[in-house]
Amino acid sequence: MKHVKRLYGTLIFLFAFLVFAFFYVGHQQNASQNKIPKVGVLQLLSHPALDQINKGLDDTLAKNGYKNGKNIQIIFQNAQGDQSNLRTISKQFVQDNVDVAVGIATPSVQSLKNATSTIPIVMGAVTDPKGFGIVPSNTHPGGNITGVSDQAPLEDQLKLMRQIMPNMKKLGIIYTSSDMSATTESKKMRKLAKAAGLDVNVVSISNINDLEQVSTNLSQNVDAIFVPTDNTIASGMKLLSSVAAKQNVPVFPAADTMVKDGGLATLGLSQYELGQKAGEDVVAILKHHKKPADMPITFIKKGHLIINEKMAQKLNITFPDSLVNKAQKEGRIIK
Ligand code: TRP
Repeated sequence: MKHVKRLYGTLIFLFAFLVFAFFYVGHQQNASQNKIPKVGVLQLLSHPALDQINKGLDDTLAKNGYKNGKNIQIIFQNAQGDQSNLRTISKQFVQDNVDVAVGIATPSVQSLKNATSTIPIVMGAVTDPKGFGIVPSNTHPGGNITGVSDQAPLEDQLKLMRQIMPNMKKLGIIYTSSDMSATTESKKMRKLAKAAGLDVNVVSISNINDLEQVSTNLSQNVDAIFVPTDNTIASGMKLLSSVAAKQNVPVFPAADTMVKDGGLATLGLSQYELGQKAGEDVVAILKHHKKPADMPITFIKKGHLIINEKMAQKLNITFPDSLVNKAQKEGRIIK
């Protein structure tokens, strides 16, 4: 009888222990499931191209089941084009221990790179990641950084300019001297245009306050102006295109969003698509535990045609029919 009683006691104790252990472990698991991933997004400044990249990123995360505030925390910060903001926000992301940091435009990525060599960083469009010393190789980045390049299809863009303006002799190029991506693209376009037999006039501004004066002078001396993916001029595109239009000079930009703001036409990469690709990289890291070191940089080769009929009218320029047809079928027309 005594033995049986002791057995009961032991069994009850064991049972109680198991019940406790079950709930305790369950609670711990819940706690770790509740730790939702954090993504820090650092955007250099607001202009339509970078805003589109951010939108493509957000939409792609949502499409993959990540709902902000529910099962992901997206911390979005705009540095308003300011270097010290970039540094402060980058440090904050490291302190917050974000799971992935996204840098939109080159200066954002550089600042994040300076702040951490361990937290995964996704580039939301850097024109030349290897050339700017951000990664040692575009195919095997090797470190904590991967992402997307927005290298523009410059040969196609030059072809398009010459198709629309067969009599063009002098091409102007304007860019911001401190913008690495704009500087690189300007140099490349200059070389291509010269090789095509054009006279090229390249000018630079140091900040947005120079834009009106410098572009007024330039417009007086050229038949058309090319503007690369320049973060400063992308936010001053309306000013640039209206200044040039006063001299009847069209502006051909490198990015699709800049046509909407007064550019005449381009064969440009979709900024939204760049953001989507960056979003896919974030998903690969969060969901599939991929490492940036092994994730090649994404390059998008094909631009899409976008023409601005409103601007063409203002400038008294007629687009070739073939181009209008193409834009109708597979591109976009701004009216
Ligand atoms: N390429 C720019 C950079 O590396 C960022 C950028 C992406 C951009 N798309 C753009 C700038 C469109 C101007 C217009 O910093």
